[in-house]
Amino acid sequence: MKLKSVGLVAGLALLISAGLAKAEQYRLGLITPPSHQWSVQGQVAADRIKEATEGRVEIMLFPSGQLGSEAQMLQQLQTGALDFAWLTVGEFANRDANYGVFLAPYLVTDIEGAKKALQGPTAQKLLADMNRFGVVGIGWSSAGMRTIDVRGTVSEVGDLKGKKIRTVPNAPELDFWIALGAAPTPMPLPALYDALANGQVDGAQLDHEGTWNTKYYDHLGTILDSRHMMFPMVAVASGRKWQTIAEGDRAIVQEIMRETFGSIIDTYGELDNRYMADLQTTDVPVVSVDRAWFGPAIDKWYEDWRVKAPVLVDLEAELSAQ
Ligand code: BEZ
Repeated sequence: MKLKSVGLVAGLALLISAGLAKAEQYRLGLITPPSHQWSVQGQVAADRIKEATEGRVEIMLFPSGQLGSEAQMLQQLQTGALDFAWLTVGEFANRDANYGVFLAPYLVTDIEGAKKALQGPTAQKLLADMNRFGVVGIGWSSAGMRTIDVRGTVSEVGDLKGKKIRTVPNAPELDFWIALGAAPTPMPLPALYDALANGQVDGAQLDHEGTWNTKYYDHLGTILDSRHMMFPMVAVASGRKWQTIAEGDRAIVQEIMRETFGSIIDTYGELDNRYMADLQTTDVPVVSVDRAWFGPAIDKWYEDWRVKAPVLVDLEAELSAQ
């Protein structure tokens, strides 16, 4: 009799745990609007993951910073209040300068270069080390190359002096703009449209995709096609939540997300040029500039950041050996 009830309890426990493993809804936060590639491809990945796990892992997307800024999302990931996020490197670079090395100006000049940097050993080591922030690094991807949008006319680098330029809230971007004599104004992406429209900022460091899709060009006098920085995306899971997902399902999530990251990067090779061509149909002049146009500010940036973030030296060596 006793044995029978033990068996019953064990059977019940098995049933309950199988039931729990059956279907779970997870939340994935993003700062990008629904039209952005990260959000679009995030949905593609979520649909594929749901299908491949037969509904056991259903991921719901929350774009446009609906769950808060990236700083807030990182806190939620750490407590387990949020399950996944596709983030810029900003919050990680603010905790460890080494995560800022991908934002080195003209470290790479196109998406192919960005892809190499993000697939190399330095990037993979930084990804693996993310567990010290309470998250699990799933993989790297990228947005388009960084460009510069300005309300007034800019024909030489000196015209940027004193201008309030919106940046992502992170140290490497701030230092770049300080070296140029501008006044960097950190601001999350969802706040940018109004700030540009009402003149709270004079310009922004952004990409052609956002400039076109969000119609920032309505308020611009010059678009600088500078492509001066790559802009990584890192996909992370809450360390606490990740452990609760069955091993086989974790492997599926990882594999599908990583495949998606590869196609996002490849897409930007074409998208950066397509959006630039679109922008050329507006009344705003698009001016192409290169590293030399920025003058000595970039050398100064490297001088400082090779000390602040020693991993930069490894990454430079890795890229020049390729
Ligand atoms: C931005 O804040 O500029 C940004 C964030 C994510 C993707 C692309 C741009």
